[in-house]
Amino acid sequence: MAASPTTKEKVQLTDRINRIQISPTAAVIAEADKLKARGVDVADFGPGEPDFPTPDHIKQAAIKAIDENKTKYTSTAGIMPLREAICAWHKRELGSAYEAKECVVNVGGKHSIFNLVSLLIQNGDEVIIPAPYWVSYPDIVKYAGGTPVFVQAKSEDGFAVKAAAIEKAITPKTRMLFLNSPSNPCGGVVPPDEFERILALCKKHDIWLMSDECYSHFTYEPHKPYSIASAVGAKDHVIVIGSMSKTFAMTGWRIGYTLAPEPLVQASIKLQSQSTSNPTSIAQYAALEAMRGSMDSVPAMLAEYARRRRRIVDGLRAIPGITCEVPGGAFYAFPNISAHLTGPNALAKSCTEITKLLLDKVQVAVVPGEAFGAPGYLRLSYATSIEHIDEGLRRLGRFFSRAEAAT
Ligand SMILES: Cc1ncc(COP(=O)(O)O)c(C=O)c1O
Repeated sequence: MAASPTTKEKVQLTDRINRIQISPTAAVIAEADKLKARGVDVADFGPGEPDFPTPDHIKQAAIKAIDENKTKYTSTAGIMPLREAICAWHKRELGSAYEAKECVVNVGGKHSIFNLVSLLIQNGDEVIIPAPYWVSYPDIVKYAGGTPVFVQAKSEDGFAVKAAAIEKAITPKTRMLFLNSPSNPCGGVVPPDEFERILALCKKHDIWLMSDECYSHFTYEPHKPYSIASAVGAKDHVIVIGSMSKTFAMTGWRIGYTLAPEPLVQASIKLQSQSTSNPTSIAQYAALEAMRGSMDSVPAMLAEYARRRRRIVDGLRAIPGITCEVPGGAFYAFPNISAHLTGPNALAKSCTEITKLLLDKVQVAVVPGEAFGAPGYLRLSYATSIEHIDEGLRRLGRFFSRAEAAT
């Protein structure tokens, strides 16, 4: 008698879900968490989230919303005061000119991007994605049936992609360009004049420019927070993706937003009405306070990130065989370790292998560059304490000096 099929064999998944993989950053975090659960002291540079608590005034606004029973469905697009406050905040902070009808509140910035790509991308469409890229971009595009087209940003340009490189990748099938400045994973910041050249290209070829501004307020001198939506005549081709997650240390609250031409916003609301419905009511009231209340926590966090950035970059550069650019924004160091991947003394063949060894031998959690389209690199989040950074650097020093790698 033939063996009956296992549950795995019986489950017939769609082509679209089989086209994508689980987020590699989530995979690293899961491995590190397993070790931590066993009581192992992990130097964890994995998570891409602020280690600061959500500011108190924002938490209080959520508590007040619960006490006032603001715990029911809201309008699908988000409460009107929040849509208005987001537009006012973006205007004040980044110089744009959106109205509430051009704003929809989503369940985090990732959801905003997922919705937009679902609205605009279908089989055969190409989406230009500068590499190194945020892990979710290619999979969101593939899920919608599109094809990601990668354009390399160079380390000697501070990982800021150039208009000239993008132009070479444009074809008649190009529908959209993703731009994330400051960028995850490498902290690249595209200067305003280059951004405007890129926008001019998008206009010329009638391509959507999706500006992912999740890290807009974590830019280090001489860079300043900037939105391409503030450029003259930008609004017809620009879609802004914003998020409360990083700026206000609100990753778990799941509030992001889209600023875009009204028909696109309407379509995003339609999709949301048949999928998530409104983002959590309580989190919306917290976000409303984030948009209207004091922003004092933001420069305080930035100053601390700047201190950690110096420490981690200096520490990494002191390890033989490692080079590291100074990131212009966000909170990630992106060292190049390719010297340790070749020659008779190579520690491993890939960064994915190095990542496993680091966790195994010295209990350091990092994300391999392959996850971001950047073999030879590692991503280390420095949204963690200086003491933690120092301990992690000591362990990395031991590992890369071969003191513990081969044991
Ligand atoms: C570049 C980038 N965009 C968007 C997001 C989405 O953030 P959220 O969904 O928490 O708003 C992240 C989160 O890590 C990110 O790094």
